[in-house]
Formats: sequence, C-alpha cells, structure tokens
Amino acid sequence: MKYVIAAVALAAISASVWFFSTDQMRTMMPADTTTNIEVVATTTSKYDNINVKTIERREHEGRSLMSVAYPVTENDAINQSLEIVSNDFISEFEQVAAEQEDLYQDYLAETGTVANSAVANFIQHFDVSFANDTYVAIAFDRYQNTGGTGQSTVFAKIYNRATGDEIPLRDLFTDESYLQKLSDMARTTLIKRVESTAQTLDGSPTAIAEFIERNTELITAGTEPTPDNFDGLVIGEDGTLTIYFDKYQVGPGSDGIVSIEIPLADIAELLTPEVREIFSIAAPVAVQPPPTPAPIQPQVTSDVDCDIAKCVALTFDDGPSVYTATLLDTLATYNVPATFFVLGKSAKIQPNTIADIVAGGHELGNHTWDHKDLRTLSGEDIDAQLRRTDDLIDSIVGVRPQYLRPPYGAINDTVRAHVDVPIVLWTVDPEDWKRPPHAELIRRMTQPVQSGYIILAHDIHQPTVAAVPEVIAALQAAGYTFVTVSDILRQPTVAGQTYRQR
Ligand code: NI
Repeated sequence: MKYVIAAVALAAISASVWFFSTDQMRTMMPADTTTNIEVVATTTSKYDNINVKTIERREHEGRSLMSVAYPVTENDAINQSLEIVSNDFISEFEQVAAEQEDLYQDYLAETGTVANSAVANFIQHFDVSFANDTYVAIAFDRYQNTGGTGQSTVFAKIYNRATGDEIPLRDLFTDESYLQKLSDMARTTLIKRVESTAQTLDGSPTAIAEFIERNTELITAGTEPTPDNFDGLVIGEDGTLTIYFDKYQVGPGSDGIVSIEIPLADIAELLTPEVREIFSIAAPVAVQPPPTPAPIQPQVTSDVDCDIAKCVALTFDDGPSVYTATLLDTLATYNVPATFFVLGKSAKIQPNTIADIVAGGHELGNHTWDHKDLRTLSGEDIDAQLRRTDDLIDSIVGVRPQYLRPPYGAINDTVRAHVDVPIVLWTVDPEDWKRPPHAELIRRMTQPVQSGYIILAHDIHQPTVAAVPEVIAALQAAGYTFVTVSDILRQPTVAGQTYRQR
C-alpha cells in the first residue's frame, strides 16, 4: 500500500474536541480522490507537555476513511503504550476497509451502482480528562461505521507520568467492591432516566410499561458489575467520575454513548487515599451501625418485689379528664399506685391534675399529643407527637415520661425507630370504653388477672372510675399488690421494644 505523505500543520485541533465528522476530515485531506493518502500531524494541546498526534488515511478512492488521534507525552513508555493501543485500531481499520472494499467491488460489478459515501469509517479521538505532574488520564472515544449508524465506544487509560506505568482503573479504588457500587448507582440513575422519559411518551399504559421493561433489561445487562462494563471510567479535573457506556450497552443505538456523572466525594469510601488526595476529597466518615439502645434502668417506686409478691399494675389512658380527680381520691384511699398514660393536649388543659398524679405517687406515661394512630404519621410527625407531650409534662412536673403507650397499641417499624423509651402495652383489656354493665366491667378487670399483668382502663369514662374501688378490693382480696408499670417491669428495658407484662 502506498501513501502520499502530506505533512499538514493542524493548529485547529484541540485535545478537547471530540469526534471528527467525515466532512471535517475531507477538508484536511488534499483534494485528490484517486490516491491513497496518509496525513500525519502533530500539534500542541492545552496541556503542558502533551501534544496531539493525528494519523489520517483515505483509501479506495475515498471509500475508506480513518482518523486516529492520540496524545504524545514527555514519557516514552506512555507514548509506546498509547501507540500500541492506537495501532490496534489502525490495523482493524485496514482489515475492515479491505473487506468492505471487496464487498463494494462485488456490489459494483453486480449493480453498476457507485457508492456515494464511505464504506468504512474509523475515528479515534481522545480527551485529556485529568493531568497533573504525576498523573495523566486519557479518555478515548472510538467510532466505527461500515453502514448503518455505526458503533461508538469509550474507554479510559491512566498513566503515572514519572514512571510511565499504566494504572489500571481498578487501582483507583480500595477494593473490588467498587464494581458492585458503581453498578448499583448506574442502574438506579439509568432506570430513573428511563422512567422519566417514559412519562413524556404518548402510548397506552401497556406500551409504556413495555418500554420501561425493555430498557430496564438492557440497563441491567449492560451494568453487570464486570470490569468490561465499567472500562469507560473518566475522572475529570472537576472532581467528577463520568461512567461512559458504549453505544448499545445500556440502551438502543439511538441513545448513542450514554454517560452518568458521579461526584467523587459521593464515592469517597471507594477511592484510595491517593486519589482522594489528588482531588482534595475528605476521607469518608466510617458508617457506624446504629447503636443498640442502652438498657434503661427501671425507676423503682416501691419496695415491693414482684418476684415474690403477686403484682398487678392499673393503667389509665386518654386522660386527664374531669373524672381523674375522683380516681386519684379513690387510689389515695386504698393507697394504690397507678400509671397514667396521658394526652399532651389534655394535660395542657389540666396541668394541676398532672401535678396531682405525681404528688399522689403515681407514674406518668406518654400517650401522644392528640391520640393519632402513629402508623399514619411521618417520622418527623411521630417525633413531634412525643416530644411535645414530654416537654409539656416536663414543664409541669419536672419529670419526663419513661414509657410510651401508642394510641390503639398501633406500632410499626417507623414508630419503633422514633421512640426513645420502651413501649408499654397491656395484658388485660376490659374494653371499658364499650361501657359494659358495672358487674361485667369488674369481672373483666379482675378475673383474667395473673401476677405481673398490666390492666388497661380509661379515666375518661365515669363508669370505669366508679368501678375502681371494687376492682381494687377484689384483687387485694385475691392477694395482689398494686404497683406502677416501672415496678412491674423492674428489669432493664430497651427503647422501642414492646412490653405487655412482667
Ligand atoms: Ni387511648
């Protein structure tokens, strides 16, 4: 193969220009369509000590076109490596161009139709994405077309400028886990992109669902955590990592090269200390598992040892109310302590009753501000329901409730996560709010009781308050000692955990 060598100064080439169109190439070529031509040119780049070498070839009367650009640095070892990489591409061009020319000649002989465009077109361009005294990072971009829309690929190479050693992409990261992490991030981003594109489409819901499914499959396959899928990692001077995916890798060909950008700071935990230093990225803060809540020591309010005595706890919810004062009198008469799970909004109206509860030797618990089903609230709103009530009680009596009883006993993981005290439910529920007959209510509050049980009742219902003297008498007759919830539980408890009995 013979070339006419033309040395042309290509001052217009900048290292940051991607892709040459074939039109641009033709303007660089001498206007001779009959001869194979090679143009080799070197020009400076915007980077110190990095020049741009360009090799262009036109063969087969202009039906095969090639333009290959690569950097030339001050380091011979780097240059050799870059030359090998580029020569591979040039060899492939020669082979493909020859095959295409054979096909073309057959086609011409059969049909007499003359091609009016290139039958083989290979372009390699590059960008210096990062350069300092120690490192240079080069992103190569290749385009190959033998008809149709062609194939585009991106890959990156990083070199140590002092030693000339190539630094494998993998060496930017502390260990192999980077592939899985980048895969996860890429999938999330790309699938979101597909979903937002889908919203702009006209079509039946089924067609749109199929569009999403088809693209999600392509994304999933193209982002499997393998080094091949992630060979287009380009670190930029602005501290971002761009992941380039080849044409067809994660989407249809019409998408071309697909890329996503990740701030290096977001993946600080994956980067080696050296990479972090270059880009001034702070060392990652080690992610601590959430601390196991420390056991809460019980507030002992009596000398009763429920391991020996038969203990039972009376608890009253939803107050304070207009009946609470009467209830406190009854409890004082029998010298019986109880536990009151109060509502913040009611405590606000009757602060004196709250003070009387504490003065009477009883225990206070939090029953939320206004009796919302906490499962229906955001974490923030759960916090507000609890904190507001605690703060109010604290402001009245200088005591913060040690327990939460959620309205309806309703809890889920969110509730558990936002509660910083133990959750106290009950063992005996007489359903006093259904206003059963007096004798039936007493039976329900006493018959099922065993030692260590917690009885649920409500001091907002007058019949309940009226039944308490007989309930106390019956249980005392059966040998029970009344204690607070703290005394029933006595053993260390854990925030967010549920307790129903001793
Ligand atoms: Ni309630």
